[in-house]
Amino acid sequence: MIFGEDYSIRLLDPSDSTSGFKTGDPAAQPLKSFLQNQAQEFHQHSIAKTYVALGEAGDATDKLLGFFTLIASEIDIRGGYVVDDPTHANRYASLPAVKLARLAVDSRFRGFRIGEALVDYSLAVVVENVVPYVGCRFLVTDAKQPAVAFYEKMGFTLLDTEDNRKRENPVMFIDLLKC
Ligand SMILES: CC(C)(COP(=O)(O)OP(=O)(O)OC[C@H]1O[C@@H](n2cnc3c(N)ncnc32)[C@H](O)[C@@H]1OP(=O)(O)O)[C@@H](O)C(=O)NCCC(=O)NCCS
Repeated sequence: MIFGEDYSIRLLDPSDSTSGFKTGDPAAQPLKSFLQNQAQEFHQHSIAKTYVALGEAGDATDKLLGFFTLIASEIDIRGGYVVDDPTHANRYASLPAVKLARLAVDSRFRGFRIGEALVDYSLAVVVENVVPYVGCRFLVTDAKQPAVAFYEKMGFTLLDTEDNRKRENPVMFIDLLKC
């Protein structure tokens, strides 16, 4: 499916219906619960901003194909990554970030590069609308273990510490001045 032809991506709207979204795997059920029970309220009240991929052609018409959520965050990179410029930024325990807090594609529409388009869109939102105006050096996510390889393909790096590698949802990041 082609972004811009078969589907578009935009901010969640109060009129969007989330009820038909399917996750398939029970492990991804919390993502569906978030979308259907909290996303609208959190979006309206600036707790978490959700973006949706909406089908515009064929079987996908008017379907919510996928979504992601962004929140303000921070990352403790000590022991796992070194900022090379400016090096004295490394003395801080935490550095500013935006977190890709939720990401899912409807199970019937996986494998069509919608997940990739959503990650690319989230990166563009942060690079174009946050980085020039608010100190923010990283895009971060707490990756579900089965999605670590997906995020690596999308350009994320696993924070290289022993503690992080053992986490159920290890921290992964993109250095926004290196992408
Ligand atoms: C992970 C997820 C978002 C991927 O969405 P998708 O639309 O199916 O992925 P895409 O079609 O854009 O895949 C892009 C690339 O990633 C690869 N990929 C997709 N899912 C992958 C996975 N779980 N592990 C490794 N690679 C994966 C694809 O093979 C493709 O690789 P290629 O560039 O070599 O062809 C989707 O499977 C999903 O919603 N999973 C359940 C929820 C979840 O795990 N969310 C993320 C963690 S919070």
